[in-house]
Order: sequence, then structure tokens, then C-alpha cells
Amino acid sequence: MKSIIDISTKYMGLHLKTPLVVSANPLSEKLENILKMEDAGAGAVVLFSLFEEQIRQENAQLERVLNATSNAFAEASDFFPDMEEYAVNTNQYLEIIRKAKERVDIPIIASLNGITPEGWTEYALDIERAGADALEVNVYFIPADLRLTGVEVEKRYIDILKLLRKTVKLPIAIKLNPYFSSLGHFTNQLSTEGADALVIFNRFYQPDFDIDNLTVLPNLEFSHPAEIRLPLLWIAILYGRIPISLAATTGVHGAKELIKYLLAGADVGMVASALYRHGIPWIKDILEDLKWYMQEMGFSSIQAFRGTMSQQHISDPTAYERSNYIKILESKKLR
Ligand SMILES: Cc1cc2nc3c(=O)[nH]c(=O)nc-3n(C[C@H](O)[C@H](O)[C@H](O)COP(=O)(O)O)c2cc1C
Repeated sequence: MKSIIDISTKYMGLHLKTPLVVSANPLSEKLENILKMEDAGAGAVVLFSLFEEQIRQENAQLERVLNATSNAFAEASDFFPDMEEYAVNTNQYLEIIRKAKERVDIPIIASLNGITPEGWTEYALDIERAGADALEVNVYFIPADLRLTGVEVEKRYIDILKLLRKTVKLPIAIKLNPYFSSLGHFTNQLSTEGADALVIFNRFYQPDFDIDNLTVLPNLEFSHPAEIRLPLLWIAILYGRIPISLAATTGVHGAKELIKYLLAGADVGMVASALYRHGIPWIKDILEDLKWYMQEMGFSSIQAFRGTMSQQHISDPTAYERSNYIKILESKKLR
């Protein structure tokens, strides 16, 4: 006889019916897609990001209209993409939040993407007023300036978080990249400064080269399931050691990857690339397979197995450490 399987979970204080969340991507620009995501069983939807550059540019344009004598904007605007390049303006973004909140029951998480603490963080208040359930912040910053120290890079994140924390009461998730020299210490700081969740890890856009035409190819590649390894390692290390939620992003293409992330200790797994490959209804397939696995394994709830493969809970915690790496390299199998 089949037992009842409960796949609900909690993510930064929000109750989610399922542990599969749609991560930020342009599919959520269309309300009909958000409805489809809910229908297919998404636990929540993170909307596509609105960029600091866009918010600042709109503010600056407004200021220019209000103060036609000022010349300051003319210079600054050279750094920004043209307004037409953004598919959705800041007002439309708020409208999408309002409309989505009217039409779906699942949490809607807005996403802001910025790198400085000035001139755009007030927009988070508009997002809160529009009815978003939470805010995800992606500090997409590549420290290409050779004078920057690690401490300065971390401070940038902390300053942005502090400002947003002062501005809104919404739960705040920070989407992180893996390139920090001491990630554990840094995540602890983010938790202390008021982050409610960490989204692990952002995939940096990495341009490729066309070697025949000697040009840079600015294309975005979808992920592969094998890419879960690095986020998996860090979720397994952080689980139970910081008092905030953990979301896993990158490489969830089927139930297997989602299950691994949950076993490591994630509260939710997130999905983007797989929806481009298979369509939005794929969410349902992943969740059906998750339930089937739980049935087979005798897990009646997510809580019953979440974190069981984390570093704290496995019988041999050194499996995550250097000694194991040495063992692998020294093993006869590789000879
Ligand atoms: C087409 C596309 C657009 C994306 N846009 C955003 C974005 O606006 N903001 C953001 O934080 N992440 C964005 N991402 C990153 C995803 O949210 C996600 O973190 C990443 O793709 C890894 O998950 P995946 O392996 O399921 O694709 C985008 C990804 C894709 C594929």
C-alpha cells in the first residue's frame, strides 16, 4: 500500500508545497508561464532579475527631465546599455509582481541584481509594496580590478545586504558565487547581517572564443547535471552550521540532482536550464520522480531525509576533506 508522501518544505520562513523552485530567468517575464509553473508544482518562483544599471538609469532619466539644466547624466549614461535593451522596465516589473500575486498562491520572490550599495536599493521597497513574498539579491560582480582585496569584495556584499535589510522587512536571499577564499566565514557574516537564505551557486556568464574569427562569443550555455558537484559540496558543509535557509541552484535537470541536493541539506532545489530544454511541465515529472524515490526509500517527508548526507551526519565526515582527495589520487584504480 502506498503511504502518504509529504513534499512540503520551508524556505526562509515561507511554507512551500514542494521543494522545487524556479530560479531567476526570463520565462517568468510572462504571467502565463508563472501560472504554468504553479500548475506543474513549483514551490515558488524567483522572477527574472532587474538590474541596478536599469534602475539607476531610469532614476537618472527622471532626474534629467526634472532638471533639464543638469549635464551630469549625459556622461554617466555612456556606461549603461540602452533602455530599449531591457525587456521590462521597473514599473512593468512591479506590475508583474502584482499580477502574479493576484493569480497564484505560491510565493513570488523578486530578484535584484546589483553591485554597489547606492542609488537603487530603495527600489526594494517598491518590490515589497507590490506584494512580493521575498527578495533574492544577486551581486554579480567580477573583481577584475587587480587592486581589490578579498575583504573589500566581501564588504561590497555585506554593505548591499545591510542597506536592503534596513529598507525592507522581506526575507532576503543572497545568491552567491563560489569564488570566495573563505566561503564558510563569509556565509556566517551574511547570516549575522540578516540574510535569510543563501542561494548556492550563481553561474557566472563565461564568454567563449571563436578561434577561426578571433572573436569573443557572448553566448549563454545551459547547465549540465555534472555541475551540481561544487554546490553539493558546500551545501553539505554548511548544513546545520548556519541558522538560515539553503537553496541549491545549478544542474537540476531531473529528480536525481534535486534528491542529492536535499540529501546534502538544501531546503529547496532550483531549476532554470531544464525548463528551457524540456518545457515548464517538466517540473511535474521531477516531482513525480522525487515522490517515487521517497516511497521506495521509506521517507514520508522531506524533513525525514534532508541533510542526511551532510558533512555533520555522514559516518565518515572526512569524505568531504583533503584526506579523501589524497586517498582517491593514491588509489590503484587510477594507475
Ligand atoms: C536563460 C537564463 C537566464 C537567467 N537569468 C538570470 C537572472 O536574471 N538573474 C539571476 O540571478 N540568474 C539568472 N540565471 C541563472 C539561473 O537562475 C540559475 O541560477 C542558473 O542557470 C543555474 O541553474 P540551472 O542549472 O537550473 O540553469 C539565468 C539562467 C538562464 C539559463
